[in-house]
Formats: sequence, structure tokens, C-alpha cells
Amino acid sequence: MKNKQFNIPIRPRRLRENKILRNLVRETFVTKHDLIYPLFVREGKKIKTEISSMPGVYHFSPDSILFEIESLLDLGLNKIILFGIPNHKDHIGSDAISKHGIIQKTIKTIKSNFPEVFIISDVCLCEYTNHGHCGIVKDDKIVNDETLKYLQRQAISHVESGVDMVAPSGMMDGMIKAIRTALDENSFVSIPIMSYAVKYASAFYGPFREAAESTPQYGNRKQYQMDIANSREAIKEAMLDIKEGADILMIKPAMSYLDIVQNIKKISNIPIAAYNVSGEYSMVKAASKNGWINETDIVNEILSSIKRAGSDIIITYFAKDFIKNMDK
Ligand code: PBG
Repeated sequence: MKNKQFNIPIRPRRLRENKILRNLVRETFVTKHDLIYPLFVREGKKIKTEISSMPGVYHFSPDSILFEIESLLDLGLNKIILFGIPNHKDHIGSDAISKHGIIQKTIKTIKSNFPEVFIISDVCLCEYTNHGHCGIVKDDKIVNDETLKYLQRQAISHVESGVDMVAPSGMMDGMIKAIRTALDENSFVSIPIMSYAVKYASAFYGPFREAAESTPQYGNRKQYQMDIANSREAIKEAMLDIKEGADILMIKPAMSYLDIVQNIKKISNIPIAAYNVSGEYSMVKAASKNGWINETDIVNEILSSIKRAGSDIIITYFAKDFIKNMDK
């Protein structure tokens, strides 16, 4: 190819000649500031048990999670999202709103030992209900508006325990407005909401449901999570959540939904997060264990592409691995 006017050959390869040049012109960098690391916590003492479908990811008890937090901080990773697995589950998910619930206890323990950690909590009922659905069930239906009252109480309770940001993930209509109103009425005006605004009914959550013991006992989540084939509906959900007061919009899963990330980035003026979910993690780990892929390179490529598509923030089980290898 030639520049016609001056007859100069155009050589894109010139800027790929060496690493310094390549880094100089690189458009996207993933940094540790972008990453949020998910952690699972359950009742008990001295528990650190690997989740079989998610190698390198563990169930912790509130005491042993402190060692993990310390090693995250050593890596420069200071943002976590917590998922709690209570001993007792019932039809309304009582543990989710109890002062002594597993999440409330864990938030307090972490904050009193490591106040510098930024803690986000998942606000949803599925880990706490015996039926495994994300809301209150009546006559086999997940009842939207009644669920909102529980989500409000859950969010307040998390914030009273010391959480820095709440992340509602139940895909109930009006949940952001309900939670924002409840937080404001309780003087928590400065606590941000990261909304799981665009959450698909995805098979990529399989390993998480094993980890959180939150598989629906009957039916599925298609009545409230989005149809995997829809794109315009994502814009509708995102715009609604912006209006309702979301501070950050999350898209989930990430890898198969980068078109959605890019679309939302274009129409939104608030930060975007993408959740690189459990199934995406497990597939990479399995292929890597078999020696079929180069895990470090693949992880770098996955996280870079999520950022390139427009995500400012990435929630990922790869956060530790990525940081350990980022300068290699
Ligand atoms: C719901 C919730 C889920 C995930 C995060 N929050 C599961 C679901 O909706 O079924 C999935 C995350 C992952 O797969 O890593 N509380």
C-alpha cells in the first residue's frame, strides 16, 4: 500500500518493531486498579477448601479469610466482592438480613483488621433461600415488589456492617431505585450502588452456583435474568438503572457479551464494569491443566479485550494470577 500523494509506502509494522514501541502505542492497559476479586465465605472456623470446579478459588470461614486478604493486599489488590453461604437457608433468606448473618460477620471482621480494603457486597437472595431463587417465591412465581423490601433491608444491613459499596444482582425491576431510596433515608447517601444492570440468564454461572450452593431447586432464572440473544433490551435495562440512581453499571457475563459492553459504553455516561464469571474462569483453568493453552497469555488477552470493549472495571477470579504475572 502506498500513500498516493507522496508515493511513500505505508508500513504499520514499523510501530511493532520492539517492545518499547509496542507499549508506547498500546491503546489499552489493564492495571490492578481496575480489578475486583470475588471471595466466598461460609460459617465455620479455619476453613480453606478449594471449590472443585474452580481451581485456585476457595471457601473461607470468617477467620481464615483474613490471611487471604493479607496476601491480596501484598499484591496490591484492595477491592473485593463478597458472597456469603449461610448454614441456615429458608424461604425468605433470613440470614441475608440478620445482624449476625455470615456476610455481616465477615464484613465486620475484615474491616476491623484491614480497614483499607474496599468491600463490595452482592445484594441478592439466592445464596440465602432454600429454593435458590433470587427473590421471594409465591405460587411458584418470584414476586418482584415484595422482594424489593427484602433487598432494601439486606443492603442497609450490609452497610451498617461496614461495606463500602453494594451490588444488587437479583434483576428485580425497580431494585436500584428501592435500594437508593432506602440508603438515602438511612443517611447512607455516600454509599455507591454498582448495579448488575445487564445480567443474562447464562450457563456460564454453573461453577458459581456450586460454590455458592445457590442452584435453583426448581425452574430456572429465565423469568428475571435476560435472554442471552437480546441486545436492545440491554440498553433498556442500562438506561433504567441510570435513571434509578445506579453509580456503576455492570454487564455479566463478560467474554460472550463484549458487544453489549461496547454498546452500553456508547450510551452511558457512568462507569462500566464487566463480570468475568465462574464458567469463563473454569474453562480456562481446565484447558490450561491439560496443557492446551498458555494460561498467562490467555488471561492477559481476556482481560485486555474486556477493557478494550469499554469496561472500566473487571470483576475476575483471575485478579491474583494476572497481577502476579503482569510484568513478566
Ligand atoms: C447472584 C449471582 C450469581 C453470580 C453472581 N451473583 C449467580 C446467578 O445469578 O445465578 C454469578 C457469578 C459467577 O458465575 O461467577 N447472587
